Amino acid sequence: MNHNPAAHPVRECAQALIAAFAAHTGDHARLRDAIRDATQPLTDRSDLTTLGVKRQGNFVTNSKFLYYDGGLEMTLNEMPPGTRFPAHDHGTCEALVIYAGRLAHTVYERTDRGEQDDNAELRIIEDGVLERGDITLMMPPVEIHSFEALTPGTFVLTVVHGRMKADRHFYRPDGTYTIGSPPSVMERAAG
Ligand SMILES: [Fe+2]
Repeated sequence: MNHNPAAHPVRECAQALIAAFAAHTGDHARLRDAIRDATQPLTDRSDLTTLGVKRQGNFVTNSKFLYYDGGLEMTLNEMPPGTRFPAHDHGTCEALVIYAGRLAHTVYERTDRGEQDDNAELRIIEDGVLERGDITLMMPPVEIHSFEALTPGTFVLTVVHGRMKADRHFYRPDGTYTIGSPPSVMERAAG
């Protein structure tokens, strides 16, 4: 039987990612490198933005599902330049692989222990600009980040392992936070 892996590039990538999470969850450097290797056949493609199925996003300019099976999610997201997505956690691993453009990206560690209701202390532990081919991996317990596209046409391949927790935190710069939905969305909805 003639088997051509390139005929099913998204499936091949998903299988490689499933193997990567099975082998390396808990080892940040190895998992990050394995995700980069697994996604490279997709990010090397010039036609990646034509793949996938449109998805409703509440922040991004446009978003498409490339893969979803309940245990693994791959989406391609075009980020709006000039709008910073608030710092947030996930409860699981999330990797961002830059496909095009430039993304300012900050990783935080929460340093308080919840002593104060509705107030968190975040410490920046990584701050930089990601460009095509770069990858960043949020892996609990260090898994809070915020980001902002610096150029139009910034596309990010996002990989999520398992399900995000329902009670995700979205932090405001003043240290307060909302749970479940990003504050920008909630505050806009509230008028
Ligand atoms: Fe995230």
